[in-house]
Parts: sequence; C-alpha cells; structure tokens
Amino acid sequence: MSNPITEQAVADAVTAALAAIDAARDSADLKAARAAHAGETSPLAQLNGAIRELPGDQKAAAGKLVGQARGQVTQALAAAEERILVAEEQARLAAEAVDVTAVASRWTAGARHPLSLLMEEMSDLFIAMGWEIGEGPELEHEWFNFDALNFDEDHPARAMQDTFFVEPAERHLVMRTHTSPVQIRSLLARPLPVYVAAVGRVYRTDELDATHTPVFHQIEGIAIDKGLTMAHLRGTLEHLARAMFGEGAQIRLRPNYFPFTEPSAEMDVWQPNAKGGARWVEWGGCGMVNPNVLRSAGIDPEEYQGFAFGMGIERTLQFRNDMNDMRDMVEGDIRFSQQFGMVV
Ligand code: PHE
Repeated sequence: MSNPITEQAVADAVTAALAAIDAARDSADLKAARAAHAGETSPLAQLNGAIRELPGDQKAAAGKLVGQARGQVTQALAAAEERILVAEEQARLAAEAVDVTAVASRWTAGARHPLSLLMEEMSDLFIAMGWEIGEGPELEHEWFNFDALNFDEDHPARAMQDTFFVEPAERHLVMRTHTSPVQIRSLLARPLPVYVAAVGRVYRTDELDATHTPVFHQIEGIAIDKGLTMAHLRGTLEHLARAMFGEGAQIRLRPNYFPFTEPSAEMDVWQPNAKGGARWVEWGGCGMVNPNVLRSAGIDPEEYQGFAFGMGIERTLQFRNDMNDMRDMVEGDIRFSQQFGMVV
C-alpha cells in the first residue's frame, strides 16, 4: 500500500481548510468550517488516522507533516474566531445604538390656547359674583345684532361695524359683529332680574394685521334690575380690571356713543404693571342700557334699568401679556400656547 500522506494531499487539505475559514463571515460559518476541516471526519483527521497504518520508519515524518498542517488550521480557526467575535459585537452595538440627537417621537403634552383660558377666567369671575353665563349663535339674525339694539334701518352706526352679511340677503343673517345680541337673547329667555356674561367669537371685515383680526372674541355683560346705576357699572368693571391687570388697575369712562346704551362710554384701563411703564389703554365700550332696548325685550324701562359692557378678549390678552402682534394668537403654533403653562 502506498503512503497516502503526501505533501500534496496535506497541502490540499490545508488550502481547502484555510479557504473555508477565510470565507467564514459569522459564527455559524465558522462552526461549519471547523467541523468540515478540523472535525473527526475532516481530511486532515483522516490523514492523521492513516499514520497508524504506515511502516514504522515513515511515521515520524508523516506525523510531523500532518501535525504542522493541523496546527496551522487550528491557528487559523482561532484567528477567525477572534475576527468574527469582534465583528459580531460591533454589529450588535451598531444595531442597538441610540441616536441622542434624534427628534423624539414621544407625544408631548399640549397646551390650551390662552384665549380659551382667559375667557374661562373672566367667566369664572362673573360666576363668582352670582352672574349667569349666556350664549348666542355666531350666525345671527340682523334683528338681534342691530335692530333690537336700537340701530335704525339706515342709521350710520349700522355701517360702523363692518359686517359680513350672509346670502341670501332676504334671510337677514349676519356673522355677529359683537356679543351684544346676547343681551337681547338673555332678556328674552330669562326672568328678571338678569345678570348675564357671555363670551364668544365675533366677526368683522377687518384685514388681519398686528392689532386686528377679522375673527375675534368679546366678553359681554348685561345687568338689568331695579335701581341699577352707573356706579354699579363702574364697580363691576373695576373688579374685572383688577382681576385682569392687578390690584393697582383703575378704569376711566369717556363719553361715547352706542345706539344700545344711553349714556354710553368708552372704557380705558390703567395698567400699573405694563412692561413699558404704567399706561391707559382703551379696553371696551359700556353704558346704561337704552330704554328702547329694554322695550325690544318687552321690559318696562320705568321699572327696570341696567348696564351693559363689552370688550375684546384678544386686546385684553395683548395688553395683559405685552404682546406686540395679534397674529401670534391665530397662527396655531403650539409653542405660543405653551408659554402660558399647563393650566387646565
Ligand atoms: N358691542 C360694543 C362693541 O362691540 C361694545 C359695547 C357693549 C358697548 C355693551 C356698550 C355696551 O363695540
């Protein structure tokens, strides 16, 4: 029998083993390469087993040849194992890596709009004084918005508020230009005496700029009782002004004209804590309810009298929080609302 352990056979086995080991990309590849080229049935193991069959004088040389080859393969396996472990560890770390600069996909807390908060704060103040909260539609009948409030058919005051009239014209519907129609609705719906505050949206054909928006909000108040005077009006407005602008706030009334109040006044508020220094700012309109308005609601003006007032919520927020641009209030950027905190 010829000696199967030739240099060529050993070299071929080593070449095949090294190629397989080199090609291994992960531990599974390496395990397969180890079984195929260093396992019990591998060519080198078979050559090693064949040494036993050789004549005594050839055993030492063959043993040396196969032994060196097996050593070479074992070393290559160890090196590959090291290489693959490192690579696999790196791949795992890369897969688990956290990008600390990534934008969080977590839901952030929202914030209520400061106008909503302010309207609630104002409503609460009136509820605390025993007033009721009234409501009316934003798409309003012209009669409630103008006629019942003593605006004549062709009174210039009807044009004073730039009105969105809604087609068809014969239905006489308007987007309410103020919250004052709620005065009439409250008087028609409730028994006397009446103490009602109403907040809500109103519409005028103004262009959007830093101090006007075509859609804005007002708070309206109407109080009808026996023996109410302008002193009651002043006291009520002062209380509201202090709640809004701090204890040092004052109000001042300047004669003005509204068809639905007589006498009528423009109301200014003294804002002691304004950022640029204390100042007077024009805040709203008010007056004693015109007897014609009471008559529209079927109330005898000899028996009952009262006062009414109305002011803009956006203006209030603008003064109170020193805002330059009203447009920030309508853009809907959550960061604007978040500055007012998480009040609910
Ligand atoms: N409705 C008036 C306005 O929008 C304000 C006002 C309300 C005036 C109540 C007097 C009484 O300008």
